[in-house]
Amino acid sequence: MTAYRYPDSHVFYRKLGRTFPRIVRGEGCWLIDEDGKRYLDAVGGAYVANLGHASAEIADAMAQQARLFGYLSGTAFTHGPVEELARELAATLPGDMDKLYFLSSGSEAVEAALKLARQYWVEWGKPEKHEIIALAPAYHGNTLLALSASAREQYQTMFRDWLVDVHRVPASYPYRCRCRGDDPACRVCSGAVLEEAITRIGASRVAAFIAEPVGGSSTGASTPRPEYFRRVREICDRHQVLFIADEILCGAGRTGTWWAIEPYGAVPDLMTLGKGISGGYAALSAVAAPERIIDVIANGSGSFLHAQTFSHHPMACAAGLAAVRHLKRHKLVERCAALGGVLQERLAALRELPHVGDVRGRGLLAGIEFVEDKGTRAALPRAARFAESFTEAAQQAGLVVWPNVGHADGTNGDLVMVAPPFIVTEQEIDEIVRRFAEALDATLKSGQPSAVSSGERS
Ligand SMILES: Cc1ncc(COP(=O)(O)O)c(C=O)c1O
Repeated sequence: MTAYRYPDSHVFYRKLGRTFPRIVRGEGCWLIDEDGKRYLDAVGGAYVANLGHASAEIADAMAQQARLFGYLSGTAFTHGPVEELARELAATLPGDMDKLYFLSSGSEAVEAALKLARQYWVEWGKPEKHEIIALAPAYHGNTLLALSASAREQYQTMFRDWLVDVHRVPASYPYRCRCRGDDPACRVCSGAVLEEAITRIGASRVAAFIAEPVGGSSTGASTPRPEYFRRVREICDRHQVLFIADEILCGAGRTGTWWAIEPYGAVPDLMTLGKGISGGYAALSAVAAPERIIDVIANGSGSFLHAQTFSHHPMACAAGLAAVRHLKRHKLVERCAALGGVLQERLAALRELPHVGDVRGRGLLAGIEFVEDKGTRAALPRAARFAESFTEAAQQAGLVVWPNVGHADGTNGDLVMVAPPFIVTEQEIDEIVRRFAEALDATLKSGQPSAVSSGERS
């Protein structure tokens, strides 16, 4: 029998040192492997399967499209799925954001948004505007420009010579900020650091500022202060800098509103969408932009210089269209808000457990941060690989979560994310909490974290 591990199979796996369970089917929030073991998918794979697994509605829509045509080039033709999907999404987007350029992955969308910002300024007559400002911690993807914008040491080191310089300002991260997110005058939590950076670099050279409205894995579902993005908007307006909201992870309803930026009352200049917009039934991402930006290119060179074979893909758009209509028809964004309240309340009980320093989030997006010492918030030593061990223990316990590391200081920091499909039930939320505690117990019994002192404070 084939073992699903390197080098026994022909697959070049994403992890070369582990054996993979082979999933044969999904059922709502559950994945079932070939031995019949059931996994509660508490993170929709990677914040993607927002509608749950094996939706007959989406499968039918995709099959119907495949019978008509699977592919045509977006340079020569348009088609129903792309027209309808753009219209449906535009109706949900904030402010004047109403044109969509479809791609496949989130990294591509980030590359495209940054390139669009650059092309806009060149065609507007300000070619000196090319500098990018991003947050730290932050993650925007793994292709080279997106990786340059990501404060991820472990991904960047190997490719440093190929990356472009991106300016960084500290992200609003209340759990690790001296002010705990409580001081409206805090330079970081108020966004003042952005203005300082623009002034330092010179506004005439800055093209764009990119940020996630609610932190994804990088800050473990941290939510900046309510006025943060209005301040960002004012700063960007004052200095003619485009504000790009990366909603790839936190968008498409995940935080209980269609877009995570909504409660802040700020409208970005560009948005990147991905992951959940197709519910994971196809690789689909998009850049959203208003006419005021695209007009500059329409009246100039006439096209965005970002040709990709699979942009505006009929099958991907058919999946996206079915997913967006499904979200609307079944009021799943509203459900996400309601069940999000339940999730955050039930997860809060985990604070009592050893090494759980913080539990936070919005809607069905939650981060649980592990620390060595709850009193000092000292991170666990990276060598202990706590988040990774916990995630493996959780999978053993039939629970799928997403780990993140390095957020505390660039190297240390362990957290896991919980982001179940929007169809999750209260009983399943209780099961997530139960299995989480079981996995933590198993992790600690296995000798993790190896370097933890016994005198931990709570
Ligand atoms: C906020 C954010 N932006 C961009 C990306 C990149 O998306 P992808 O992995 O689809 O390339 C991710 C992926 O996790 C993300 O979380």
